[in-house]
Amino acid sequence: MGSGGVVIRKRGFSFQALLPLFLAFFSLQKVSGLNYTINVNNRQVSSLRLERIQRHLNKINKPPVITIQSPDGDIIDCVHKRKQPALDHPLLKNHKIQRKPSEMPRSVKVLKEEEEGGDSKRSKEEDDIIKGAWQMWHRNGTRCPKGTVPIRRSTEHDVLRAKSLFDFGKKQRKFSLHRQSDAPDVVSGNGHEHAIAYTGTQEVYGARATINVWDPSIQMVNEFSLSQIWILSGSFDGSDLNSIEAGWQVSPELYGDSRPRLFTYWTSDSYQATGCYNLLCAGFIQTNSRIAIGAAISPVSSFSTNQYDITILIWKDPKLGNWWMGFGENMLVGYWPAELFTHLADHATMVEWGGEVVNSRANGEHTSTQMGSGHFAEDGFQKASYFRNLEIVDSDNSLSSAQDISILAENTNCYNIKSSYNNEWGIHFYYGGPGKNPQCP
Ligand SMILES: *[C@@H]1O[C@H](CO)[C@@H](O)[C@H](O)[C@H]1NC(C)=O
Ligand SMILES: *[C@@H]1O[C@H](CO)[C@@H](O)[C@H](O)[C@H]1NC(C)=O
Repeated sequence: MGSGGVVIRKRGFSFQALLPLFLAFFSLQKVSGLNYTINVNNRQVSSLRLERIQRHLNKINKPPVITIQSPDGDIIDCVHKRKQPALDHPLLKNHKIQRKPSEMPRSVKVLKEEEEGGDSKRSKEEDDIIKGAWQMWHRNGTRCPKGTVPIRRSTEHDVLRAKSLFDFGKKQRKFSLHRQSDAPDVVSGNGHEHAIAYTGTQEVYGARATINVWDPSIQMVNEFSLSQIWILSGSFDGSDLNSIEAGWQVSPELYGDSRPRLFTYWTSDSYQATGCYNLLCAGFIQTNSRIAIGAAISPVSSFSTNQYDITILIWKDPKLGNWWMGFGENMLVGYWPAELFTHLADHATMVEWGGEVVNSRANGEHTSTQMGSGHFAEDGFQKASYFRNLEIVDSDNSLSSAQDISILAENTNCYNIKSSYNNEWGIHFYYGGPGKNPQCP
C-alpha cells in the first residue's frame, strides 16, 4: 500500500480543472461551527451531475417501511431485510440471509452473566465510570419493526462532499507495515497516520476489543479520525489486500458533522474498486434491527468523568465462512458474506487495533486533528483513549487474549501508543494525541 499516495494524486489529475476548485473549497473551511450546507450550495453543480447523484441515491436508499427522524438530523430508514443494498451484489442475487452464525466463538475464560454493554472483567471502581455506549437515533423512541433493518439514509449533500461519485463511501488508505516510520510519504502531505497494535503473521479467524468512544476535533473537512479493528489478509504491497474493518469514526466529509459514528468497511482489492463504508455499496448484510451502521454513538466519554465504550467482535463462521460482526457483549449486527473475499475466504493473516487520522498538512503544518481523546497514551485512564481486552479467534473458533502484539506509530510526537497487561483489561493499550503541538510542528 506504499503506492496509495500516488494513486490519489493520479486521480486528482484526471479531474483536471474541476478538482482544484473543489479542494480549495474544502481545505479553506475549518470544521468547528461549519455549516456544511453552505459549502455545497455555493458550489456550481451541473444538473447532469445532480441527476447522476440522484440515480445513485435511488439505488442505495431503499424504500422504507417506516422512517425515523434522529435528533441529530439523521434519517433512519427501516428497510425490509430482503430489500437491503447488499442483495444488489451480483454474487448475492440468490443469497439466503443467515439469521445467525452456526456458532459463536467460545471464550476461554467463562464469563459471568453480563449487563448490556458491560463487561464482567472490570473492577468495581471502573464499573461506576465505564458504561456501554449506544446510538443517538434511539432517543427518538421509535424502533424499526420486526423484519426490517435500520439504514442511515444518504443525501445529495453526503455525495457532494465526496471528491466524486466514485469516491463517495470509499476510503483511500496509504499504509504499509513494511514501510519505515521515517518514510517520505509520512511527511509529504495527505498522509494517513496511525497508532496501532498488530499481531504477527499467523492464521487468525477473528478479533475482539472494547474501545472507548470520544469526539476528537477534526481540523479539515476532508480529514478524519477513527479507531477501529482491521482484519486483514493478502499483501500490503499488492492489489489484492482483503480487509474487514469496524469501529468508530469522525468524518465530516462522509457524514456532514463531527459526531463519532459506528462504522464498518470492507475491500477485497486494496481499497481500489471493491468495498465501501457501511451500507453505501452492496456487500455487508445487516441482520440487526436495533443498530444503524453509520449512526452517531451516544453518549461519548468525557475527560476525567464517565467513560463510554463499545465492544466489537468480528469472526468467521466456521461452517459457512461468512464474517460476522458482534456489538456489545452478545448482539449480532450482521455479516460480510464469504463471497465478497478472496484471501479472507480462507482466514486472516493479521489483525490491527488502533487509531488512524488524515494529516493533510494544510498551510504546511501538521494537522491539529485529534486521535482518540486528543491526549497522549501516557495520560492513561479517563484521559487517553483505550482499546482493552484485545482478543483473537483461533482456528477452533475460540477467543483468547492476543499474544505477541507489536505496536506502531509513525510520529510519536503527534500521536502515540502504549500497550500493557493486567488481569481485568488483559492485553490493552492507550493511544492518541493532539496532532500539531510544539514537538509536532
Ligand atoms: C446552513 O445553511 C443553509 C443554507 O444557507 C441553511 O438553510 C441552514 O439553515 C443552515 N444551517 C445552520 C445550522 O445554520
Ligand atoms: C421520530 O421520528 C418520527 C418520524 O420521522 C418523527 O415524526 C418524530 O417527530 C420523531 N420523534 C422525535 C422525538 O424526534
